[in-house]
Amino acid sequence: MKEDSNLTEPIGQNLIKVISNVCFSVFVFAVLIVTVIAITYQPPDPWLESSPALTKLFTQFHNATFQNDNSVLKTGEDLPDFGIAETPAVAPAVMPITEAVIEEKEERVTNMSLKSDCDLAGPVNCSDPRVLIAVERFNLRFFKAIVFLEYQTPVRGSAPNECDVSWRFRNKKEKSWRKYRDFRRFRIGVGENCTYRVTGANGWHSGVNARRQRSRGNATRSGGGIGRIAPPVRDEEINDTIPLLGSEMTFRKGKYLYYSRGGDYCKGMNHFLWSFLCGLGEAQYLNRTFVMDLSICLAATYNPSNKDEEGKDFRYYFDFEHLKEVASIVEEGEFLRDWKKWDHSRKRKVPVRKVATYKVTPMQLSKDRSTIIWRQFDAPEPENYWYRVCEGQAAKYIQRPWHALWKSKRLMNIVTEISGRMDWDFDAVHVVRGEKAQNKELWPHLDSDTSPDALLAKLKEMVHPWRNLYIATNEPFYNYFDKLRSQYKVHLLDDYKELWGNTSDWYNETRLLNRGRPVEFDGYMRVAVDTEVLYRAKTRVETFYNLTKDCKDGINTC
Ligand SMILES: *[C@@H]1O[C@H](CO)[C@@H](O)[C@H](O)[C@H]1NC(C)=O
Ligand SMILES: *[C@@H]1O[C@H](CO)[C@@H](O)[C@H](O)[C@H]1NC(C)=O
Ligand SMILES: *[C@@H]1O[C@H](CO)[C@@H](O)[C@H](O)[C@H]1NC(C)=O
Ligand SMILES: *[C@@H]1O[C@H](CO)[C@@H](O)[C@H](O)[C@H]1NC(C)=O
Ligand SMILES: *[C@@H]1O[C@H](CO)[C@@H](O)[C@H](O)[C@H]1NC(C)=O
Ligand SMILES: *[C@@H]1O[C@H](CO)[C@@H](O)[C@H](O)[C@H]1NC(C)=O
Ligand SMILES: *[C@@H]1O[C@H](CO)[C@@H](O)[C@H](O)[C@H]1NC(C)=O
Ligand SMILES: *[C@@H]1O[C@H](CO)[C@@H](O)[C@H](O)[C@H]1NC(C)=O
Ligand SMILES: *[C@@H]1O[C@H](CO)[C@@H](O)[C@H](O)[C@H]1NC(C)=O
Ligand SMILES: *[C@@H]1O[C@H](CO)[C@@H](O)[C@H](O)[C@H]1NC(C)=O
Repeated sequence: MKEDSNLTEPIGQNLIKVISNVCFSVFVFAVLIVTVIAITYQPPDPWLESSPALTKLFTQFHNATFQNDNSVLKTGEDLPDFGIAETPAVAPAVMPITEAVIEEKEERVTNMSLKSDCDLAGPVNCSDPRVLIAVERFNLRFFKAIVFLEYQTPVRGSAPNECDVSWRFRNKKEKSWRKYRDFRRFRIGVGENCTYRVTGANGWHSGVNARRQRSRGNATRSGGGIGRIAPPVRDEEINDTIPLLGSEMTFRKGKYLYYSRGGDYCKGMNHFLWSFLCGLGEAQYLNRTFVMDLSICLAATYNPSNKDEEGKDFRYYFDFEHLKEVASIVEEGEFLRDWKKWDHSRKRKVPVRKVATYKVTPMQLSKDRSTIIWRQFDAPEPENYWYRVCEGQAAKYIQRPWHALWKSKRLMNIVTEISGRMDWDFDAVHVVRGEKAQNKELWPHLDSDTSPDALLAKLKEMVHPWRNLYIATNEPFYNYFDKLRSQYKVHLLDDYKELWGNTSDWYNETRLLNRGRPVEFDGYMRVAVDTEVLYRAKTRVETFYNLTKDCKDGINTC
């Protein structure tokens, strides 16, 4: 993982200020290691700790150096019993297809076809409802990890006894109700009593004839003709366009909370989220629309270039559509345009309350009727961090809306593709190496316990031979795990490069967000995908406590 860029350069060398060294592990499980003057500090698990405790932590350690475990990354959707149930906008609209549903359908079909002579010989009629019933039943038995939602009528495959079937599903491990699509090719045989049965099935996305044709646009292409490739399956369900404010009237009726860019810019992603959710939380507390800057500066540790990179779109990483649904937000550019328009067209300007310091609490602002409350973060670091607004007393009133934050559906499509290709039948091991493995003082055994030989020996106790084994890791050397290939079918993120390569949907779709320019698959995206695939494994082996007795947060912390 790209955090290892830290290995080659002293931490923070590229960062602008001393305090930039502060990295936050806010929701990563565990892990902030304060390496100041030999202090080892075990931070609270933010998902479990109260906000005052966290606030204390963050204020105490402003100028400390934090290192976090960037190799696992959690967002609202990964948290069991955390807020997800409160998001009615994404409640299931479609009933899952269960055995009971299939039986009922079968009964209906059988009643109808009793009169027919039940001659199933000859080419299979894929649109015969009995074919779909056979496929549904097969899928239900075979794919225990997913919930089947809707099937399309099967269509003919490449041979007379083949049918291509497409369906939508969701993953049981995912708390969100997002739906994904698969289409596979099935071989159909004749069963007993006037039924069909599935005699074979091909892999993920093999049923190309059932792939939904894109309706919009002109499919004709240069170089078309024979062997023309079916149009790509773009995820048409993503609608993360920037909402327009619309008329001046709507703008006038709104109440806004606007945060100027603060010292959080170009800090680690966890710092960004900790701050962003503070702002969003304040807006919710004040019943205001939060003005949101979708342009993110991704810190150097996640960038292959090892430099901070500006102009990253929030939507590369997070699900903006979901955010729009559950929170009141407006995009900064839209907002500023309307504000300016308003100020130009009227004598009386928009009422604005400027707030110069975070020391003005949200509670003090709750009575303010100004159209815009504008928090300016001009003070020197660390006085200019957004999250400071949520410190102290405010922490009692403001709740960070974690549930509003899901990972980008575009990244989740990659996750689904990887786990789908393994038919959701895989085990995974999380191998933390990188800086921690180098740091013998805090993790004396980690390096040796994650050496190829040690890994193999340990895994043999926990994972059956020749299983699919996905390795989520921050070890940058691809061949490091070769030894495991003698026992397992090893899968690494880089084996799936084409999913974000220049022929992928991801590439095309993110490019659209980036005014036609290609988007780099950066370290943060890698961690996001690695983490999610890891969570979908049947057996999950963790580095700490499974592979090594070293403590997650350094020596003597467990
Ligand atoms: C920052 O560091 C200095 C010197 O290391 C120390 O005196 C000071 O108390 C620290 N401040 C905080 C807020 O930790
Ligand atoms: C099928 O027919 C049986 C008897 O003919 C009847 O009891 C049953 O309700 C029917 N089922 C459906 C779904 O129509
Ligand atoms: C296939 O089955 C469908 C539905 O039962 C029926 O409408 C259609 O006529 C059948 N086609 C052929 C070629 O038998
Ligand atoms: C086929 O029908 C017979 C008689 O109705 C029944 O005994 C048998 O279990 C059925 N077979 C299947 C696979 O449903
Ligand atoms: C397809 O493209 C042709 C010419 O490029 C145009 O005349 C036609 O209207 C287009 N059809 C659709 C459905 O857009
Ligand atoms: C996308 O969502 C916006 C609201 O956020 C809506 O106005 C627009 O019509 C939607 N677009 C599509 C194609 O569904
Ligand atoms: C926000 O709205 C809720 C419900 O309408 C109300 O109870 C609460 O007092 C409002 N908060 C502020 C700060 O105006
Ligand atoms: C995609 O990348 C490959 C290798 O990096 C390059 O050879 C090819 O020209 C690229 N194709 C497009 C369409 O950019
Ligand atoms: C991506 O876009 C390019 C050009 O618009 C197109 O040729 C290519 O087929 C698209 N690929 C996918 C996977 O959508
Ligand atoms: C890993 O360790 C945890 C805690 O000791 C244990 O519950 C879990 O079963 C272990 N995982 C495996 C695959 O053995």
